[in-house]
Amino acid sequence: MNVQSEPRWIIDTRSAAGGERRAIYFVRDISVRGQVRTARLRASALGWYRAFVNGDDQTGPALVPRWTPFDQYVEFQDYDVTTTLVTGNNRIGLVLGDGRYRGGLGAFQHDSVYGDRLAGWAQLTIEYVDGTRDEYVTDTTWKVGAGPIVRSDPMAGEVVDLRVPSALDPATVIGGFPHAAVTPSGARQLIAEEVERVTEIGRLSAASIIRTPSGKQLVDFGQNASGVVRIRLSGPPGRVVRLNHGEIKGADGELDIKYLTPFRAWPHKPQTDQVTLDGRTMWWQPWFTIHGFRFVEVEGLDANLTSEDIEFVVLSTALEETGSFTASDPRLQKLYENVRWSMRSNFTDTPTDCPTRERSGWTGDAQVFAAAGTVFADIDAYFRRFLRNLAAEQLPDGRMPIYAPAEASEFSGGMARTTRMLSGSAGWGDAIVLIPWTLYSYYGDTTVLESSYPAAQRWIDFLGNRAAAPSRRKRGRRGRVSAHHEQFIVEKGFDWGEWMRPGESFLSSAVDSFRRSGATVATAYYEHSARVLGKIAGVLERTDDERRYTDLADSIRLAWREAYLGPDGRIGIDRQDDYVRALAFGLLDEQERPAAAARLAGLVIAADYHLGTGFLSTPMLLDTLRDNGYADVAYRLLLQETTPSWLDQVNRGATTTWETWEGYTKRGSAANSHNHYSFGAVARFLVEHVAGVAPGKAGFETIEFRPGLESGLTSAAAAVGTPRGTASIAWRKTVGHFSVHVVVPPGALGKLEISSESHLLTEGEHDLHVTIHGTLVNSRDAP
Ligand code: BGC
Repeated sequence: MNVQSEPRWIIDTRSAAGGERRAIYFVRDISVRGQVRTARLRASALGWYRAFVNGDDQTGPALVPRWTPFDQYVEFQDYDVTTTLVTGNNRIGLVLGDGRYRGGLGAFQHDSVYGDRLAGWAQLTIEYVDGTRDEYVTDTTWKVGAGPIVRSDPMAGEVVDLRVPSALDPATVIGGFPHAAVTPSGARQLIAEEVERVTEIGRLSAASIIRTPSGKQLVDFGQNASGVVRIRLSGPPGRVVRLNHGEIKGADGELDIKYLTPFRAWPHKPQTDQVTLDGRTMWWQPWFTIHGFRFVEVEGLDANLTSEDIEFVVLSTALEETGSFTASDPRLQKLYENVRWSMRSNFTDTPTDCPTRERSGWTGDAQVFAAAGTVFADIDAYFRRFLRNLAAEQLPDGRMPIYAPAEASEFSGGMARTTRMLSGSAGWGDAIVLIPWTLYSYYGDTTVLESSYPAAQRWIDFLGNRAAAPSRRKRGRRGRVSAHHEQFIVEKGFDWGEWMRPGESFLSSAVDSFRRSGATVATAYYEHSARVLGKIAGVLERTDDERRYTDLADSIRLAWREAYLGPDGRIGIDRQDDYVRALAFGLLDEQERPAAAARLAGLVIAADYHLGTGFLSTPMLLDTLRDNGYADVAYRLLLQETTPSWLDQVNRGATTTWETWEGYTKRGSAANSHNHYSFGAVARFLVEHVAGVAPGKAGFETIEFRPGLESGLTSAAAAVGTPRGTASIAWRKTVGHFSVHVVVPPGALGKLEISSESHLLTEGEHDLHVTIHGTLVNSRDAP
């Protein structure tokens, strides 16, 4: 059973006139001739779709197909409908909403980026017990009917009129409906979906329902997340009910969505679902939209809602969550859970920056978070898919688009000029080198290194071209650079820079990068990615490339040192992130490291144990301090409770991680997104260094168990999924005594380090008991 080589997409020729964006109900009746042995329905859409057989929803709450570079390929789903078909007449249906194809995208919520006409594709293959088979595909025999969904936008919400009868209903006579038309598929390919769908992963009940000062009903689910509500509606026919979604309840007690419009030129449409009632009492849930929210404001219902009447249907990629973390300090546990919620909220059809404002697959955010993602769930396939999308839209000069998919299509004139202009930023585009390396480190599979290799090479070439281009900006330099080394300094072009240090806004971050630190950051990333690509080449046994990229990294390193390392040991602009990058990327010689680490610790202490880092360096900050003799400073930072810090957000009631360290303006109103996963990259540190379970050799062939005793906690525990099974650690400290329980999955070798003693552990469970001063008193395998 093969997918049509030239899939026939059907359209409603009447749609798209005057920018109309109605949902489309395609239907067709077929006759089942006898006893069915097996029947499979394959379906897809340019838009989001639900497939129906005799009114039975095959797709359910899943938002499919996922977002891909739609000009190039679209994913399809496969449903087993063997027991759903009946002998005789059957009605097959496809209902289409805008999805990412025609719906609003990105910061400016532009619609109709990929096309203004939704299209559906289906292939039903029935094999009968007698060995014969029938096949039905989308073609002009399909009819175009109507149904209650008037309009649906993935960001702005769904509009429904329940009074409109549905063509899916087998009782609706469809004979007189207009025929669908077939549209050529062009170069677009259909490919099988490879990742768990974005679908319902759980439900949340209302934590409280109040009337706001203005009299609206406001439901608080107590958790910021992505999804939709399921609500019991009743009222007279024609009554309009509106559901407004948002993350924040303002100081005035009303839903606040104003902060999503950071400035007037960047307006944000509210996330609103609207239902016109038909007089019945019924449960309702939108089909083709997804919101980022914790609160929902309900307008138009007379009766007071109770928690029996409304639920939060959480939508995310249905990954199996294998990770856990607990600690004697409940604030750290809450932090870990907040990161998990931000990951769920943003692991939708592409890993996004936030589930509200932009919902774009920003590369930098994914790059800094990927390793943290592994501590919660197996994200290998999910990120490989992201990388494939990213590579598919690489620009001819090697630039990586700022997000994947790149929100670009021939239909709307190709990649937007600004996207093109902003693509190529260091730390963002490096996702094509660094994410494959992260996946390899955690999952041990070299195929991702292989598949992303050509794009990674082109990216390094691109950075090389940026470096070779003369630039008049020499800002942030500490030394004069020889003519030979000048060609390795990445100064020309655009960089986001460190991005969102404490106190920075979009504008000040960008200005800082342009005027002061952009080249320091970019040159360091050029070195780092070239070195990592050298390692990748080594794993792939491309010896010449290994040499070439390692030599390149060595040259960039020398140039970087000349430009940004002062004779007094000061680095770049002399901020925390300068030292973090230098130490974490190995840009310093051995004898220079202690002074740089001391300066980093000194900067942190001078800030009264507050961090000063943004998106790029925060994930490396604590490890860098810890690995360079300042574990005490690292833990004080981690446990810091005033702004800027992770626990400050926790203490202020955050249920997800925020885009900025502050989260609110000085006057107390919300600012920027409250559900960005980037600063949540700290979850990896919690698992790997506070609890103490981390990969050693790629794919957890060896596992490092190193309890974070310096944390001052009395106990911590974590489990992580590895390709070999679950690895876990649980430790506890009491007066004069320390005990640890470790699980090494089959085929792995564990190394447990406590108080500078090292123990090799084979697969299985192990308990160790140690006196508090470090002498091993007992070691035995658990029964
Ligand atoms: C996004 C980020 C992104 C950034 C680029 C923002 O508007 O929300 O998370 O990485 O732009 O610097």
